[in-house]
Amino acid sequence: MEHLINFKDWTPRDVESIIAKAIEIKRDPAKFRDSLLEKSLAMIFQKTSTRTRVSFEVAMTQLGGHAIYLDWLTTQFKLADIRDEIKYLSRNVDCIVARLKRNADLMKMSHASEVPVINGCDDKYHPCQVISDLMTIKEHKGQLQKLKIVYVGVHNNVCNSLIEVCTMTCMQITTVTPIIHEPAQDAELLEKAKETGLYNLTLDLKGAVKDADVVYTDSWVDMELFFDPKFKEEKDERIKLMMPYQINAELLKDSKALIMHDMPIHRDYEISGELIEAPLSIIYDQAENRLHSEKAILLKLLHRE
Ligand code: CP
Repeated sequence: MEHLINFKDWTPRDVESIIAKAIEIKRDPAKFRDSLLEKSLAMIFQKTSTRTRVSFEVAMTQLGGHAIYLDWLTTQFKLADIRDEIKYLSRNVDCIVARLKRNADLMKMSHASEVPVINGCDDKYHPCQVISDLMTIKEHKGQLQKLKIVYVGVHNNVCNSLIEVCTMTCMQITTVTPIIHEPAQDAELLEKAKETGLYNLTLDLKGAVKDADVVYTDSWVDMELFFDPKFKEEKDERIKLMMPYQINAELLKDSKALIMHDMPIHRDYEISGELIEAPLSIIYDQAENRLHSEKAILLKLLHRE
């Protein structure tokens, strides 16, 4: 049985196929209308979400199936052993998507589950997001190979998954990440990426974006911590350190790079407001494409494609 936790068990061909499938589904959604008839997806969220929740739920509806939203705090997941709850759940549904705080808990889930488990974003990886990202780049550029993407921000879960998937698809990826987000550390993933010769790190932001095809940023502070008084001191420190790395019109004045952000956005922190709807921004396309790419993920894991 196949899960999607990260891309460690996937081949470059798997990644390319799923991107191609997502583009095909977007072009002709009616062709896939009944592909998951009578199938059910459980969606377990320990953290907040807009896109991941909406895209998976709408994807299941449009594929003829059904999705059930389970809020961690109002289910027995909060009280019981995760393995027992998953053993039960996987006898009643065909697939599970989970947004958990800790990758270690997601691994427990996937080991206990009798149906495919999809990582809806944990502290280490966000695989569904980056499938949508590469789909969007391919739509706009016609190819992925040899393109240069520059990720600017905190080295977090999205950054890990981007490094993983870009190096698998022969894209060059440069990261400008003054802060390594501790829980996201994955030495094995970074070592493997370095061996490809496609992954570079720098703090020279201007130099990095000069010849970039894509400039990508993400929030510096998790949404749920942004307004948490206990996190205020660290938030203020992060903002002070990261402000010189903001993506803005001055930085990109000579650039033809596409502008990406996985959302939610903290306007005028990691990206200046005027860039969000600038002609080169593909931010809303990449968010929309979560729907089409979630469909491709569900069809692959449920062996419908
Ligand atoms: N990018 C993303 O995963 O969005 P949500 O947090 O709203 O699901």
